[in-house]
Amino acid sequence: MAFVGDVHGRPLRNLRLSVTDRCNLRCAYCMPEEDYAWLPRVDILDFEEISVLVDRFCELGVDKVRLTGGEPLLRKDVERLIEMLAAKPALRDLAITTNGLLLPERVEALRAAGLHRVTVSLDTLHPDRFRALTRRDGLEQVLAGIESVAAAGFTGTKLDTVVMRGVNEDELVPLVECGRDVGAEVRFIEYMDVGGATNWSMDKVVPCDEILARLAAHYGPVEPLETGEAGAEEASAPADRFRLPDGTVFGIIASTTRPFCASCDRSRLTADGMWYLCLYAAEGTDLRGPLRAGASPEELRALVTGTWNARDDRGAERRLAEGPRTPLVPITDLRKDPHLEMHTRGG
Ligand code: GTP
Ligand code: 5AD
Ligand code: SF4
Repeated sequence: MAFVGDVHGRPLRNLRLSVTDRCNLRCAYCMPEEDYAWLPRVDILDFEEISVLVDRFCELGVDKVRLTGGEPLLRKDVERLIEMLAAKPALRDLAITTNGLLLPERVEALRAAGLHRVTVSLDTLHPDRFRALTRRDGLEQVLAGIESVAAAGFTGTKLDTVVMRGVNEDELVPLVECGRDVGAEVRFIEYMDVGGATNWSMDKVVPCDEILARLAAHYGPVEPLETGEAGAEEASAPADRFRLPDGTVFGIIASTTRPFCASCDRSRLTADGMWYLCLYAAEGTDLRGPLRAGASPEELRALVTGTWNARDDRGAERRLAEGPRTPLVPITDLRKDPHLEMHTRGG
């Protein structure tokens, strides 16, 4: 297989597939508005179209696929897509990022379809905070969903927590304990100024160093893990991982204060077939148009290769270097183009 590298030598490896822009929660950091413009139904790729595009990506080096949304379990029959993807030998990792609400009723089918791993977003353990943060009820269901993941036989489960000042920065220890109880690795994520986060401000970000200090104050010295240790993933993984004195491992994704752009091998395909090379990118590449116009495998590969070869994005690093930050995209622009939203782009 040919190595396809970008301007900075970063490989094309990790594809995030947003299978729907819809969500059944309205998290403050992602969907804070009342109304959203949804992608037109006719534009949404069907499973066969997604599978064809994934084949082209795999031929060019992609070996990790993560299904995202919106909420990916809202995509009707997503288990059938998972079956199609699980049958591709090139994919050594096939995962999903979900808010967990629908897990209790779907986890068995996801496992049977051949999904490898599950990551669940969990920002709080207080039902009232959950309601305030997501504008819906459902913490009990999410917790039941998280417990059902191990019971269904999945390993490598992660819990993703976006840490926000004044919201949940006092829950780091209970969340670590929750992860330990259910056999999942907790990852604390710095609140990011991405499209959709219209209420973002720097004072609501709890920086990585503060997260570490808070945990060390409770548990004692926190030790950084080296790449390759304790099942640590390759250097391109977004999380820095740490070990507590009792052996518990957790991660921090410091995208805001310590971006990992230098090793970023990710790109994302939206449910309507737009391909974005960075979470912060203003423009994407339309793959649906050529696909539906009958482009050959060679033509699609040439389009993907040429686009990746020219990739210069270092969105989070650029934002950091720019100095004082306000939300990335004004609400008026988000309304004009939903592709700028995190819930469309898939996180
Ligand atoms: P694995 O490491 O394979 O388990 O998956 P992952 O960490 O890529 O998946 P997940 O969906 O759990 O991603 C974690 C979070 O990292 C996302 O929800 C985002 O907040 C953040 N993130 C993901 N991709 C990017 C990216 O390209 N750039 C930046 N700056 N942050 C990202
Ligand atoms: N900052 C950080 N992470 C975010 N996510 C969505 N919006 C943001 C943001 N503004 C990520 C979280 C969440 C997943 C679905 O998307 O990790 O768990
Ligand atoms: Fe929350 Fe995820 Fe839904 Fe966004 S897509 S509102 S982060 S559950």
